[in-house]
Parts: sequence; structure tokens; C-alpha cells
Amino acid sequence: MPDAIVAEGLVKRYGPTVALDGLDLTVPEGTVTALLGPNGAGKTTTVRVLSTLLVPDAGRATVAGIDVLRDPRTLRSRIGASGQYAAVDEYLTGFENLEMVGRLYHMGVQRSKARARELLERFRLSDAADRPVKGYSGGMRRRLDLAGALVANPPVLFLDEPTTGLDPRARLDLWDVIEELVAGGTTLLLTTQYMDEADRLADSIAVIDHGKVIARGTADELKTLVGGDRIELTVDNADNLATAAQALKGLADGEIHIEQGLRRITVPVADGSQALVSAIGKLAEHDVKIHDVGLRRPSLDDVFLTLTGHEAEELINGNGHTPADKLAAVEGKTR
Ligand SMILES: Nc1ncnc2c1ncn2[C@@H]1O[C@H](COP(=O)(O)OP(=O)(O)O)[C@@H](O)[C@H]1O
Ligand SMILES: [Mg+2]
Repeated sequence: MPDAIVAEGLVKRYGPTVALDGLDLTVPEGTVTALLGPNGAGKTTTVRVLSTLLVPDAGRATVAGIDVLRDPRTLRSRIGASGQYAAVDEYLTGFENLEMVGRLYHMGVQRSKARARELLERFRLSDAADRPVKGYSGGMRRRLDLAGALVANPPVLFLDEPTTGLDPRARLDLWDVIEELVAGGTTLLLTTQYMDEADRLADSIAVIDHGKVIARGTADELKTLVGGDRIELTVDNADNLATAAQALKGLADGEIHIEQGLRRITVPVADGSQALVSAIGKLAEHDVKIHDVGLRRPSLDDVFLTLTGHEAEELINGNGHTPADKLAAVEGKTR
């Protein structure tokens, strides 16, 4: 399968901030790739470069066979993009918004109107078609914004955090819509902070951190990469955390993570349910009372912790933690 998106060595700096630090990425035609990473990782910058909105400081990229830097105008007519902040006109109706996009693509009045109606129907917005967008819910706005990206039937689509900020119901709705969309063969690069979203929608996941792709694979491959399941347990009394950690050491397949404030211990284990039974037994032996215990699949945080040595959330504050920092932090919490 030829690649619909190829990026090589993309670099983008904002003053001292390195937003993209030699980013490489390929997306085979007709597939969905999720660019998965925390706030500030460089997801939006990547999408902006690939959709011609931003010129990188170094590197090259082609989308749909067109050179992004040499031929941005041609490329613009072949891609659709929908942003984290829905770019719709508040004072126009849903119908007028889509019709306007059609006109911008020089589709002519009749075709623009017909396309607007068709998309409103497909995105379950027909009933709200003639109401100003001002009164739309967040989920409706996102669907309209997504519809706008599809007006010109682009073979390649970029969606930047399509469900961030939506309530769970609207999120599921949008996932359905996106799934229908890609069933039609559109190549999609979507960005997300959520492992479950990448898991559900993407054929392949590229994990991005500090402007670089640090891992690539299917959701299952990434989870395997970071080990098996996690036993997550909360103890009744924080004073027992160290005892609990000690008792569970033999079961751990990797580093035990302790969160003092939450009275929580996370233990990576190879054989999930077997280890869970043993863990409960061991804690009983050591008289550690358990408040809550469960087994879960690795999360984005686990992927990050394992691959980078820092937790996804820490990046939100712009703290680039090294593995040594993290070890110190974990040890600090154990004491
Ligand atoms: N216009 C800008 N001016 C200065 N810094 C920026 C600008 N846009 C993004 N950045 C910085 O570049 C980095 C990557 O940002 P971004 O691509 O928006 O990340 P993400 O979309 O993954 O949250 C961040 O550190 C961010 O603060
Ligand atoms: Mg972003």
C-alpha cells in the first residue's frame, strides 16, 4: 500500500521551545493512524505542518503524493482538517456554514447546497440545519466542523483531538461517525490524548512525546511493549503502603508505582488474574487492609511511564522528567 502521508525529520521551533524535534511519520493509504500524546507533545503542530498551515524549520513531507512545502495550494484542495476548537461561524446556521465551505471550494451554488444537505443528514444534524450554530451543543459543533472538513470529499483527513472536551455520550456519537467515515476508505490522521480513543479508531498508533515519535504499533503491540496487566490497589491506611509494596515485590513484572496521596499501588504483572489472587493473599498475610483492588489493561500513562520515564500529565506543566527524576520521585513517595 502506498503511503498517503510521509513526514521526514520535521523540525519546528517557537523561540526556545522545540515543538517538533525531527518527527518521522508514515500513514498508509486508506488507514487510520492516531498520533497519541499528552498536551504539548507536538500533535497540533504536526497536523498544522501537514495541512499546510505552518511551515517547518526543517524536514520534508508529502500528503496524497503532493509535496507539502512546494505545492501547498494544490494540496489544500485534497485534504480536510478539523480542529480541536471547532471552526464554525456562530451566527450562521449549520446549513449556511456547510454551504459556505462548498462555495470556498468553488463548488457552485447548487452543488454546495446539495452537499450541505447530504452532510447534515449524515451527521444527524438535519433537524438543527436551519438554526444558528450559537445554540448548538459541543457535540453538534464538532460534528458540523467535521462535516465541514468533508465537503470537498478529500482523500486525506486530519482530525485534531476530535472528542476532547465532549461528554461521554457525544464522544461515542462522534466515534460512530468517524468509523463510518473511514469505512469509506478515507486516509485519516487523528490526534488524541486518549488511549481508548486511539484503540477504538486507529489501525496504528504513533506515540509522540517532545516532538518525536517514540513508539509505533497497534494498540495491542503498545500494551504488550509496556508489559501485561496492572494490579491497582488502594490500601486503607497510607502507613501500610511500604509494607504492601514489599509484600507484592515478588509478583511484580516491572517497577511498582506508589502514589502516597491516593494510598494507591500499581503493580505490573505478567499473569493478571493469577497474580491478583496471590496479591490479595499476600496482603492478608501482612495484615494490610485493602480498600479497593482491580486488574486493568495498561493505560496511556503506563505507556508513557515505561517509554519515557515520565507520566503523561507531567508534560502538561511542561516538566520534562528524565527516568532518573522519576525514579527519585517514586522512591521519595515510598519513604
Ligand atoms: N504559536 C506558538 N507559540 C509558541 N509556542 C507554541 C506555539 N504553538 C505551540 N507551541 C508549543 O509547542 C509545543 C507543542 O505544541 P502543540 O503542537 O500544540 O502540542 P499538542 O497539540 O500535542 O498539545 C508546546 O510546548 C507548545 O507550548
Ligand atoms: Mg493540540
